[in-house]
Amino acid sequence: MSIEKKNGTGTGDGGSGTPEIQVRGLHKSFGDNEVLRGIDLEVGSGEVVCVIGPSGSGKSTLLRCVNLLEEPTKGQVFVDGIEITDPDVDIDAVRRRIGMVFQQFNLFPHLTVTDNLTLPQRRVLGRDKEAAAEVAAENLRRVGLSEKATAYPASLSGGQQQRVAIARALAMGPEVMLFDEPTSALDPELVGDVLAVMRMLADEGMTMMVVTHEMSFAREVADRVVFMDGGVIVEEGTPAQVIGNPSHDRTRHFLSRLLDPAMAEVEEDRTP
Ligand SMILES: Nc1ncnc2c1ncn2[C@@H]1O[C@H](COP(=O)(O)OP(=O)(O)OP(=O)(O)O)[C@@H](O)[C@H]1O
Ligand SMILES: [Mg+2]
Repeated sequence: MSIEKKNGTGTGDGGSGTPEIQVRGLHKSFGDNEVLRGIDLEVGSGEVVCVIGPSGSGKSTLLRCVNLLEEPTKGQVFVDGIEITDPDVDIDAVRRRIGMVFQQFNLFPHLTVTDNLTLPQRRVLGRDKEAAAEVAAENLRRVGLSEKATAYPASLSGGQQQRVAIARALAMGPEVMLFDEPTSALDPELVGDVLAVMRMLADEGMTMMVVTHEMSFAREVADRVVFMDGGVIVEEGTPAQVIGNPSHDRTRHFLSRLLDPAMAEVEEDRTP
């Protein structure tokens, strides 16, 4: 691995001085619903930050604001020192630097795996067919799916489709990868292969923000874990701190529900 794993206290910057992602005073409302209520966060170059928290706490909205799929109501987002929330910024140029992987893989069903990877390269980056195919092949190899190059998505397992979606994002040459619950739609036996690909990317030094409920992944791979609730960051720190020894009741409560969903149901029944 690359990268000196940071000490986890926060602003690992990979030595370059500028954090890869910087979020300052970020607010996002949908109508009257204030979903993000002042988020400050830095992700250093090569750092892996896992974002955890209950449903509706604003995790997806945070990720979507980081690549401007949502427009923040207030606050700033910087990528590699460039303010992407500046109205004059070229949004397409920004998005090229940030790969995103969703719970749903969103592959084109009528295109082969290779064509799913080459289409965005050709459309967005203007690569010619041969160059795009070469990059596609290289990234299919990275995710362990070279033999599926000519297959159609419907013939792949969910885990394989998600790895194709990751390869598609990587083929664009991003500096940062954002993952929004990439394994939540998968059967349990398919989760491991996807997490292994993400672990490889982390080891290669990719800067990553990962929304996940996979606590063992967060423990092993994250440099830092951020716990969100109600649109704010309640606590952040090393996995050992946040998952192993949380300092806030809300974090403890969330983690205990994750570990024992049956208890959570009992608790919810009790809630008036
Ligand atoms: N496009 C939208 N329009 C209106 N409300 C939205 C929109 N996107 C999200 N919200 C609301 O914002 C809140 C936070 O949603 P968000 O998807 O960010 O939560 P989350 O932490 O990712 O939850 P989950 O774990 O269920 O994915 C929710 O109340 C949701 O209904
Ligand atoms: Mg979400």
